[in-house]
Amino acid sequence: MSRFSVDGRNAIVTGASQGIGKGIAERLAEAGANVAICSRAQERVDPVAEAIEEEGGTAFAMECNVRDADAVEEFVDATVEEFGGVDLLVNNAGGEFVADFEEISENGWKAIVDLNLHGTRHCTQAAGEYMRENGGGDVINISSVNGQHPCPGESHYGASKAAIIDLTETLAVEWAEEEIAVNCVAPGLIQTPGVAETLGIDADEMPPRERVDRRIGYAEDIADVVQFLASPAAAFMTGETVTVKGVPRAGNSMAEDLGLED
Ligand SMILES: NC(=O)c1ccc[n+]([C@@H]2O[C@H](COP(=O)([O-])OP(=O)(O)OC[C@H]3O[C@@H](n4cnc5c(N)ncnc54)[C@H](OP(=O)(O)O)[C@@H]3O)[C@@H](O)[C@H]2O)c1
Repeated sequence: MSRFSVDGRNAIVTGASQGIGKGIAERLAEAGANVAICSRAQERVDPVAEAIEEEGGTAFAMECNVRDADAVEEFVDATVEEFGGVDLLVNNAGGEFVADFEEISENGWKAIVDLNLHGTRHCTQAAGEYMRENGGGDVINISSVNGQHPCPGESHYGASKAAIIDLTETLAVEWAEEEIAVNCVAPGLIQTPGVAETLGIDADEMPPRERVDRRIGYAEDIADVVQFLASPAAAFMTGETVTVKGVPRAGNSMAEDLGLED
């Protein structure tokens, strides 16, 4: 199983005060990585780092708005100082609001593209510079199924997430010689505070048949795939986007809940 190990890696996970980012940070730390996490508010990200440390992991938390390139550089520098390097970046920070295309203002459009796409660019440029100078690493971007398929009411979000998939493919080629793998995860609907707030969905209460892809996903489902992509087992993968929106299978804890277990 050592092919699936992330032990000792120096990781950055952006947007880790809740939801998918928190799940990824907890998973990587549990598996032995040193984890630097950020969100827009120190008081929101501190408890996540404290909980990781209480469980015996190593975590460093810092306030950083990924829309601010200077703040991102400071966060990456502080991570390098704290851990002695950075060789894994998970670009998770992202968000959206729901509105028809014709109703999206100039500021609204820019805010979403700024957060999802430019935030990813800022972090990748800052951490990537360090990786290029220090023997390589892995960048894992968090896109969305909405970047792969039409998403009415979320055109700005879908466009920014589609751009992340394209950026993944392009950077994988540009940085191949520098031993930096760039991959991407495209989650389906995942139960997070962000989804509850933005879409008004308490997905856990939806009857199975009305759930997207038969069941809601959890942050752990995304963390599983990120851990794999961050491990040597994925060493022959770059430029790929892994879609994570499966149906429950036998042995999956949700299968029993949904009455699908034989
Ligand atoms: N949940 C889903 O169904 C789903 C599906 C597909 C893709 N995704 C993607 O997965 C990622 C996480 O989604 P989620 O549902 O977990 O979101 P969430 O519950 O809204 O959490 C978003 C996280 O990002 C942080 N954040 C927001 N703006 C930031 C900024 N400017 N700088 C730094 N951190 C920032 C938030 O922390 P603060 O508020 O403390 O700053 C929070 O920790 C996003 O990229 C999202 O697009 C989610």
